[in-house]
Amino acid sequence: MGSGNGLPVHIAFIMDGNGRWAEAKRLPRAMGHRAGAQTVRRVTAFARRRGIPFLTLYAFSTENWSRPRGEVDALMELLSAFLDDELPTLLENDIRLRMLGDPAAIPSATRERLALVQEKTAGLKGMTLSLAVNYGGRDEIVRAARRAAGGLAAAGRSPESLDREFFESFLDTAGMPDPDLVIRTAGEKRLSNFLVWQSAYAELYFTPRTWPDFSDADFEAALDEYEKRIRKFGS
Ligand code: FPP
Repeated sequence: MGSGNGLPVHIAFIMDGNGRWAEAKRLPRAMGHRAGAQTVRRVTAFARRRGIPFLTLYAFSTENWSRPRGEVDALMELLSAFLDDELPTLLENDIRLRMLGDPAAIPSATRERLALVQEKTAGLKGMTLSLAVNYGGRDEIVRAARRAAGGLAAAGRSPESLDREFFESFLDTAGMPDPDLVIRTAGEKRLSNFLVWQSAYAELYFTPRTWPDFSDADFEAALDEYEKRIRKFGS
C-alpha cells in the first residue's frame, strides 16, 4: 500500500461480449444478455461490498437501436425485469439508482420503471449505481450544450462567461466525480462513445473475459492493477 491509488471512487463498465458468450455456447444472443444481467447483479453486489461509492454500467447505447428489433425488445424487457426485481435489494443495500442518457426514446414501460426506481432510491447514500440507457457521450454533450445555452440566455449571461463547472452541471453525470477506472470486457480496446467527456483522465482496463464470465476474481484483478497505475492527470 502506501503510495498506491487505493480504491477507485468511480468505476465504469463497458459490458461487452454477451453475444459472443452465447454464440460460443450455441445459444440465442438473448440468452447472453440474460446471463449478462446476472453479472450486473453480481458486480453491483461486489462493488457495494468493497465500498466503491460510484458504479456506472453501459447498458444500452444510442447506437444499439440499429440492432434487430427482437434483440432491442429483449434488452428493454431485461432492463424492466431487472428494475422490478432489484428495487428491494437496492433499498436494503442503501444503493441509489441513477439513469444516464436520454429517456425520450426509451419504451414507456422501461422508462417508467427507471423513473420509479430513481425516485424510490433518491436519498440513498451507500453507493450510486448509474445505468447508461439510450446513452451516447456525444449525444450527452450536445444535450448539455443546448441546456447550458438556455441557462446562459435565461440568466442574461454572455457565451464567454461559460466555464467548465457551469457546463458540467448540465451533463447527465452532474454532481458525480469523473470515473477513475473504465473497464471494458470481451477484448475490444475502445470507449465506443461512453463517458467521453468524463473519462479524460480515467485509467482504462481491458480484459478478454466476456461480460457473462466476468467474475469477482476478474474484478479484483482490475482493482489490483488500478492500485499500481501511476496517475498524472497531465502533470
Ligand atoms: C454487449 O454485448 C452488451 C450490451 C449491448 C448490453 C448490455 C446489457 C446487459 C449486460 C444486460 C441487461 C442490463 C442490465 C442493466 C440488466 P454484445 O451483444 O455487444 O456482445 P457481442 O459484442 O459479443 O455481440
